[in-house]
Amino acid sequence: MLIHHAFAFVIQVNSNYLKLKAGYLFPEIARRVQAFSQNHPQTDLIRLGIGDVTEPLPLACRDAMKKAIDEMGTVSGFHGYGPEQGYRWLREAIAQSDYEGRGCEVSADEIFISDGSKCDSSNILDILGEGNRIAVTDPVYPVYVDSNVMAGRTGKSADSKRYEGLYYLSINAANNFQVQIPEYPLDLIYLCFPNNPTGAVATKEELESWVAYARKNDALILFDAAYESFIQDSSLPHSIYEIDGARDCAIEFRSFSKNAGFTGTRCAFTVIPKNIKGKALNNEKIDLWSLWNRRQSTKFNGVSYIVQRGAEAVYSSAGKMQVKALVGFYMKNAQIIREYLSKAGFSVYGGKHAPYVWIKTPDKMSSWDFFDFLLEQANIVGTPGSGFGFSGEGYFRLSAFNSRANVEKAMQRIGNL
Ligand code: MLT
Repeated sequence: MLIHHAFAFVIQVNSNYLKLKAGYLFPEIARRVQAFSQNHPQTDLIRLGIGDVTEPLPLACRDAMKKAIDEMGTVSGFHGYGPEQGYRWLREAIAQSDYEGRGCEVSADEIFISDGSKCDSSNILDILGEGNRIAVTDPVYPVYVDSNVMAGRTGKSADSKRYEGLYYLSINAANNFQVQIPEYPLDLIYLCFPNNPTGAVATKEELESWVAYARKNDALILFDAAYESFIQDSSLPHSIYEIDGARDCAIEFRSFSKNAGFTGTRCAFTVIPKNIKGKALNNEKIDLWSLWNRRQSTKFNGVSYIVQRGAEAVYSSAGKMQVKALVGFYMKNAQIIREYLSKAGFSVYGGKHAPYVWIKTPDKMSSWDFFDFLLEQANIVGTPGSGFGFSGEGYFRLSAFNSRANVEKAMQRIGNL
């Protein structure tokens, strides 16, 4: 017999989500911009906020995707579920061009194709245990922090600035935006170079020190190299695996979003060397590759065949030239922003090896006050530094992802203020 209760049962939610300080940064910006646009419908806004690309997909990628669509229209060329790890030909092209080409030992088997570095850098927590001491830089790409909060790996943010249980490594003008190596042991360290949001880049020596630290402390570096193609100086490392010993202690995230314009198309990859080990509660050594492979096989069905063919074309000779031109285009924008704002008297950082220019707000304005000021007075959307963490307060990020005309117009508007 069914018993009808007077009170409906209410399912439990993941209360870790209730610890999150506010909405994710970029939707919050979008909300404010939408409110402004509703009140000022005629305004010609220039968006230098979220790092979303604006230029068309490279022709080589489009041609490859069109060809793949045509194949899919035939019985012999049709593809259903692909391998969860990605198609072999794409993994081999990556291993050869991105790694072998730079002297790194990374095999195709160690490359997992995915739909984004944002997803992978969050999902990686699935295979990592709860007791790890986790460090992030401050400021930081907010996904690393929020995904740890959601997974219950932090305490509350008591002062609503920083979460209990996370270690924050401040990066600021005083330390030249370089992450200082801590003198205490940590287990997981998120590093992002070229850096989002500050645009700073790491030298080989700096990465060597991090790898030495990680090996000494049995730590794992989660290395986000989504912006590596923007590096302009050939002596700077593009991959953590250019450092001896990194295969024992680092996972790397890479993406086709920013170099080849795949933010809407979605394709990225994560490298997990087969020799990286973690430990189980009984201290047994477990390899992370197998856990990630298991995780992906269960929870992920791969990126579409069409998109993977598009990504493969990034490595064709035409694709390489087209991607280089795209990156060069955005880096010229970054140079224009840097030069213009420097002349206008701003303290300007980044933008030399990254598509982000990081500036100090004028007259000690708070980051959000400067956001509102630029939005209202110049109709420019940027990203408040404090949205990336406590130490980002008083800074502001401008993205170089826009048309040349818009970037030049934005700089003139700032000049007219
Ligand atoms: C950003 O603006 O920081 C990026 O768009 C973040 C991302 O790639 O998810």
